[in-house]
Amino acid sequence: MSAYLQCIEESCQKKISANAKTYVCPDCSGLLDVMYDFQIADPDKVKQAFQQRRLSNDPLDLSGVWRYRELLPFCADPAKVVTMQEGNTPIYEAPYCAEYTGLKRLHLKHQGLNPTGSFKDNGMTAGVTQARLMSSKIVACASTGNTSASMAAYAARAGMKAVIFIPDQQIAFGKLSQSLDYGALTLQLEGDFDEAMKMVKEITEESEVYLLNSINPFRLEGQKTIIIEMLAQRGWRIPDRVVVPGGNLGNSSSFGKAIKELHDLSFIDKMPMVTIIQAQRANPLYKTLIDRSARLIRVEAHTLATAIKIGNPVSWKKAMRAMEWTRGWCDVVSEQEIADAKAIIGRDGVGCEPASATTVAGIKKLIQTREIDKDEDVVAVLTGNLLKDPDYTVNYHQNNLYEKAAYKNELIERKDKIQSTYANAPVKVKARKEEILKVLGL
Ligand SMILES: Cc1ncc(COP(=O)(O)O)c(C=O)c1O
Ligand SMILES: [Zn+2]
Repeated sequence: MSAYLQCIEESCQKKISANAKTYVCPDCSGLLDVMYDFQIADPDKVKQAFQQRRLSNDPLDLSGVWRYRELLPFCADPAKVVTMQEGNTPIYEAPYCAEYTGLKRLHLKHQGLNPTGSFKDNGMTAGVTQARLMSSKIVACASTGNTSASMAAYAARAGMKAVIFIPDQQIAFGKLSQSLDYGALTLQLEGDFDEAMKMVKEITEESEVYLLNSINPFRLEGQKTIIIEMLAQRGWRIPDRVVVPGGNLGNSSSFGKAIKELHDLSFIDKMPMVTIIQAQRANPLYKTLIDRSARLIRVEAHTLATAIKIGNPVSWKKAMRAMEWTRGWCDVVSEQEIADAKAIIGRDGVGCEPASATTVAGIKKLIQTREIDKDEDVVAVLTGNLLKDPDYTVNYHQNNLYEKAAYKNELIERKDKIQSTYANAPVKVKARKEEILKVLGL
């Protein structure tokens, strides 16, 4: 067999069939990796094939995930692949952000320009393809919004039923609207993401429903291509550092695996450091690192960056491994730092959702603490599109953003004001030419 599952626990390393319907090791409950007997004799030839496929109109070559299929060879039948031309996301130079952080140059890889507006599509094409390989009819996930939007779209494309578990009133409207439109059965659960995750795990273990959270190792195989595509776009010039937000820690885990495999297979001779940034009050990985704890230190998560409002991240051990392999680190940023960094990313004409802005905020902080050198070649990964959470952005620019806001259909409480340092509020003006010219200073 060329693809199989393997337990990541050093003391176990149990191997099981790639088509076993299990998301953790049956012996020790450890997380699983998809592993391969790679047959790559000449990495340069494979790199050339990646480049040549950019001229092809084959559906697999048009995908920014399956174009790199030699590095995720778990699907032998191209007809089974469920693709929406995901990936293919640009890398922008961001001079405004660079100056803000103190770096000489900074590049942003914008995963928010995927078909459903987040990096989840890179993983979901792989996850739903595996679901099809296993003849699954129903797929499910718990979500802070983006996973469900992506899964709902890919399930619709594959003719599968999608069931999503979301924390009631805690996901951004842009994301909720997507899953509704794509026809998913949307279950709004009382409680937070961590509770939704617990429920979906129990239900998928006991039924034939296939789980597509990032505990599913096939999702992470797709997300590896964020790193692979980024390196291919840079002509395989390796950055010093890749910075990524940390929530459930699937993305950082997949980055670590991609970098390790590329290095082991001699595609690259140096490993970029993976730096993970969490929100200050949704910081379980950071706490665990600082305390040198062998167990995850869970937290009750609070942040307006709802995509990373996660206190019990499933993939924390894989994220630890990613940092170990790449000499990476994790840090935290405040709500104020996230909000301001997001506005700065906007000023570069790029924009993103709040969780993605932890990257630029984190780089600024790490330059100040001299963890990052101003000459470093850094790529920040923006994970979601600006339009996912327009309320946050409009509130910021209208100087109306609070760390704690309580709703009972309408806003009933505001606490802990976030300063709108870079506000660009709309200007109210009468529909008269002379008034408008006055505002324009003409
Ligand atoms: C926009 C965005 N950024 C970051 C994350 C966190 O990614 P991960 O859970 O892989 O750490 C998510 C997860 O939902 C997300 O939607
Ligand atoms: Zn095990």
